Amino acid sequence: MNAVVSPPFSASESTLQAQSIEVSPLSAHIGAEIHGVDLTKPLSLQQIAEIRAALLAWRVVFFREQFLTHEQHVAFSAQFGELTVGHPVFGHVEGHPAIYSISKFRKATRFEGPALQRPWTGWHTDVTAAINPPYASILRGVTIPPYGGDTQWTNLVAAYSKLSAPLRAFVDGLRGVHRFAPPSGAQGTDAFNAAVEQNTLVTEHPLVRVHPETGERALYVSPGFLKQIVGLTPRENQALLELLWEHVTRPEFTVRFKWEAGSVAFWDNRTTAHLAPTDIFDLEFDRQLYRTTLVGDVPVGPDGVRSVALQGTPVGAAAAVALN
Ligand code: SIN
Repeated sequence: MNAVVSPPFSASESTLQAQSIEVSPLSAHIGAEIHGVDLTKPLSLQQIAEIRAALLAWRVVFFREQFLTHEQHVAFSAQFGELTVGHPVFGHVEGHPAIYSISKFRKATRFEGPALQRPWTGWHTDVTAAINPPYASILRGVTIPPYGGDTQWTNLVAAYSKLSAPLRAFVDGLRGVHRFAPPSGAQGTDAFNAAVEQNTLVTEHPLVRVHPETGERALYVSPGFLKQIVGLTPRENQALLELLWEHVTRPEFTVRFKWEAGSVAFWDNRTTAHLAPTDIFDLEFDRQLYRTTLVGDVPVGPDGVRSVALQGTPVGAAAAVALN
């Protein structure tokens, strides 16, 4: 069995000695494939601890050939925390309050008009418009194109650590407002606008988030949701956000995952942003994945100040929906 290999900047306490799983890193800073575990069955305490350690060290971990039902997806997820509702704004799969459908069709009906395409367009961290964004997401591939449709993740801790010391000190004291909105240039469809109006979520988060388990600092600048840095002029806001978004999406901080049916990706939303593919819209193939998310805490900045909800309520547990 292989030992977990931690990236040089990650929390050394997450390294375990005797491994029951095999962890194979995929890039210098982020992403590892895990082998030697069957996710359809209840995990041992050791397997749970090892997967958690690999998640903290590698930010996103991948499993292959795990053909889970919705029920098994929920059961696997529940071993790592309380499940949220599928999506607090866009709903859930009927009869499965904790499952969110990620389909090509859903993506194609959200925005219209030509978005202003920039290198960071589409990158986001899940649901950062909420006061308590899900701490982790677990995505499983069901219908996967024979080519195209890869997902990318970036390591926001590595990105923070590679800023210059003066810029780190500057962003440490900043806060930003996150909300659901179409990318620049595009418009929301009627369905998107109605969903966002009925469940409006707007939150002020620190620009640098301290990880509650490792104490690491992450550049918490979800490009899809972060609209305004508090207190800056419009031009300052544009210039600084673009600099930070360009920085966090630098290729050396990222990993790109090629899906297969039965693949599962499990990522830490406190330290990552990700990019859903758009090349699928140039291909005729269908693409269907399903996601669960785990209830998160309220982010805290380096100064100890917590995020503040400007509109909306915390993301609730799926169990609450099941009872209604
Ligand atoms: C997501 O944003 O959670 C989905 C990513 C994908 O479609 O690959």
